[in-house]
Amino acid sequence: MAGIRLQPEDSDVSQQGRAVAVSATDLVSDDDRSVAADSWSIKSEYGSTLDDDQRHADAAEALSNVNFRAASDYSSDKDEPDAEAVTSMLGFQSYWDAAYTDELTNFHEHGHAGEVWFGVDVMEVVASWTKALCIDISQGRIPNHVDGVKAGASELGDKLLSSWSVLDIGTGNGLLLQELAKQGFSDLTGTDYSERAINLAQSLANRDGFSNIKFLVDDVLETKLEQEFQLVMDKGTLDAIGLHPDGPVKRMMYWDSVVKLVAPGGILVITSCNSTKDELVQEVESFNQRKIAAAQELDEAKNEESQRDPLFQYVNHVRTYPTFMFGGSVGSRVATVAFLRK
Ligand SMILES: C[S@@+](CC[C@H](N)C(=O)[O-])C[C@H]1O[C@@H](n2cnc3c(N)ncnc32)[C@H](O)[C@@H]1O
Repeated sequence: MAGIRLQPEDSDVSQQGRAVAVSATDLVSDDDRSVAADSWSIKSEYGSTLDDDQRHADAAEALSNVNFRAASDYSSDKDEPDAEAVTSMLGFQSYWDAAYTDELTNFHEHGHAGEVWFGVDVMEVVASWTKALCIDISQGRIPNHVDGVKAGASELGDKLLSSWSVLDIGTGNGLLLQELAKQGFSDLTGTDYSERAINLAQSLANRDGFSNIKFLVDDVLETKLEQEFQLVMDKGTLDAIGLHPDGPVKRMMYWDSVVKLVAPGGILVITSCNSTKDELVQEVESFNQRKIAAAQELDEAKNEESQRDPLFQYVNHVRTYPTFMFGGSVGSRVATVAFLRK
């Protein structure tokens, strides 16, 4: 336990750095949340998959090595990684196709829902926190939500939430959407570039009584969706995209694409184990600057007056995740941050 303990506040320590140096046994929880079985995902009671252990080991290795791997020649995430590229395999569609093939088999043979990334507790916190945030926004309140405050009376809440169209990008097994449906959201869509993930998500939704949730195969980096959504959720998808050998470029493509999916006045909620809240805010700031500079250049070329606002603005983040000390800094394994689309 040396040097590592839980603290009430979160901070800026790099989670990638922690993933390298902190083992699950070094962590303790102050609120009975189960903390990492490995540095990337947490197994849940939703059932294990056929080769979970190997995949968890591989995923942990990929995450912990991601800082040390030189950029390769891979330009397509449809390509199969070779042995050298194994540290970034979570950035490849082939990895996810194989993972969801196993999970589909496991679902058909044993009824297991499979992996809940970052654990059930995090998923539940994300859903209830997002509900409270959306109710605040619907009621015109400044979104200064404090964790632990329950969303308003459920009837009013359900009424307000029914007007929110929700998109979950990289939905995987779609369980986050089921959780959001339980919270009162009703206009729900999930996309994933892995067709097998979508098959699994649809099968689970049908089985669990959520057949109103829509699921589509779509690559967020080359999205075919033309609709804008009031609420866009991302739990672990930007993390996965960033693990591709061309991660930095793909992360820029991600922002260019996502900005078109969030309706003006809508919200983007990102949950990450790979970036801290401050790193995500910084990434959004860079995106805003890039967009403003591009727009100004265009206006100058047209000899027009330029006055551009940032596209995304930080709104709030979850403060209740367990945090711990590492290398003199305090941080949380998981960050959930909301951005307002201006
Ligand atoms: C870590 S998993 C998280 C799954 C799900 N969001 C959850 O929380 O359980 C990352 C997901 O992102 C999907 N994904 C990765 N890159 C994607 C892309 N470019 N477009 C759509 N989905 C993508 C993967 O197929 C995988 O389902």
